[in-house]
Amino acid sequence: MTEQHINAQEPRKVFLVGLTTSQANLTYELEELANLAKANNLVPVETFTQKLERPNPATYFGKGKVEELAEAAKTYEVDMIVANDELSPSQIRNLEKLTNTTVLDRTGLILDIFAQRAQTKEAKLQVQLARLQYQLPRLRTSMSVSLDQQTGAGGGGFTSRGSGETKLEESRRRITSQMVRIRQELAELSKGTSTRSAKRTTNELANVALVGYTNAGKSTLMNRLLARFGIGADTDDTKQVFEKDMLFATLTTTVRQLTLPDKKQFLLSDTVGFVSKLPHNLVSAFKSTLQEAANADLLLQIVDVSDEHYKDMMATTEKTLAEVGVTDVPMITVYNKADRTELVYPDVSGENTITISALDPASQDALIDLIKKQIFNDVQEVTLHIPFDQGAVQAKLAAKHTFSKEDYDETGTLITVELSELERKLYADYIV
Ligand code: GTP
Repeated sequence: MTEQHINAQEPRKVFLVGLTTSQANLTYELEELANLAKANNLVPVETFTQKLERPNPATYFGKGKVEELAEAAKTYEVDMIVANDELSPSQIRNLEKLTNTTVLDRTGLILDIFAQRAQTKEAKLQVQLARLQYQLPRLRTSMSVSLDQQTGAGGGGFTSRGSGETKLEESRRRITSQMVRIRQELAELSKGTSTRSAKRTTNELANVALVGYTNAGKSTLMNRLLARFGIGADTDDTKQVFEKDMLFATLTTTVRQLTLPDKKQFLLSDTVGFVSKLPHNLVSAFKSTLQEAANADLLLQIVDVSDEHYKDMMATTEKTLAEVGVTDVPMITVYNKADRTELVYPDVSGENTITISALDPASQDALIDLIKKQIFNDVQEVTLHIPFDQGAVQAKLAAKHTFSKEDYDETGTLITVELSELERKLYADYIV
C-alpha cells in the first residue's frame, strides 16, 4: 500500500463533538476519535462536549450548545464536525443546517478509513456492503463530502437532497440491488474460504489467532514469528503481512504455517483490529473474516501495554469478540510493546498472561513456549456430559476433536475426548 493511495486529499480542519452520558468514557473515546480523524487526514482543531442524559433526538447536542458550535465553526472556519456517536439521518441534517458545516458521525468516519484501507477483493466488498447499508436510510441527507467521494466502485454519490421522490426511489432500488449482488459475490468467495478451512481441519493443525485493538502489534508479531519459523519466510517477502503504525492497517485475515525447531507445527492467523463502537454494519460485514478467530484453538489477545488506555482497549476487544460470536475460545493475553514501558520482559505472569516486546527474540521464544504449552501439552482424556439442548457445545467440540467414545443417557450425550488444560477449564461444567 502506498501513502498516496491512503490519502490524497488535503487535510481538513474539523471539530470533534461528544456527549457525556452515564456510561461513556468520553476522554478515551474522544482521544480515539481524534486518532481516527487524523487517520482520515482530518485535523481536529477543537473539541466540544456536553453532559446530557441522552442525545437530543433532533440535534444531538442541546440548543445552546448547537448555537455555540455554529458560532465557533464560523470563527475557526472548520470544514466539518465529527460526532463521537452514530447519528440519525435527521440529526445529521439538522446539525448541518444549523451549523452550516458538513457533519460526519463516528460510523461514517470509520467506514471512510476502512474503505481506504481495503486491499483484497473480499475486504473491498465487505466495506462496500457496510457503506451501502449505512447510506440507505441517509439518502435524503447531504452526507459528508468524503462519503460521496468514497463511493467509488459503488457507482458514484447517492446524495439526493433536492431531488424528487422518484429519483430517491431509484437510488434506493439501485443500492438495494447492489447490496444483493455484493452479498452473492461474498457468498461465492466465502465458499472458497471454507474449503480452505476444511483442508486445515483434516491437517489437524492447531489454529492460533491474533486478535486485538488496532495498532497493538499483531502484524508485527506475526512477521517476527514468520521470519523465524515460517516456511521459507526469511527468503520470501510475500509471506510477510502488512505492518504499519496506522489504524486498521490489516483488514484481511492472513493464515500462515509455523514450524518450530522441534518440528511441531501450528497455524497463525492475523485479523482485523478493533476500535470502540465499531459500526454494526462493519462488524456484520466482516463476520466471515473474523470466523478465523471463532474457529481458532487459541486466541492471542495482543495489547499495547504502553498506551495509557490499554485497559479500555482490552474491554473493547473483548466486547467486539463477544459481538461477533467469538466465545469459548481459550485466550492468552499478550501485553506487547513493553520496551516502551518500565515493565520487565519477557515475563510470564500466570498461565495465560505474558509481557513481551514483539521486536525482542527472547520475548518471541517465551511466547512460543507458552503457546506450545497451551496447544500441545497437558492433553488429558475426559468424559463430558452435554445436555441435549446444548447441541452447539457438542458441535463446537466436534469441529476440533475426534471423540474416542460417544454415548447417551436420558438427558444428554456422553463424550470422551482429549482436551487441553485450557479447554478442560472452559468445559469444566460438563466434565463428569
Ligand atoms: P492493525 O492492522 O491496525 O490492526 O495493527 P496491528 O495490531 O497489526 O499493528 P502493527 O503490527 O501494524 O504495529 C503497529 C505499530 O506498532 C508499528 O509501527 C510497529 O512497528 C509497532 N510495534 C509493534 N510491536 C511493537 C513492540 O513490541 N515495540 C515497539 N516499540 N513497537 C511495536
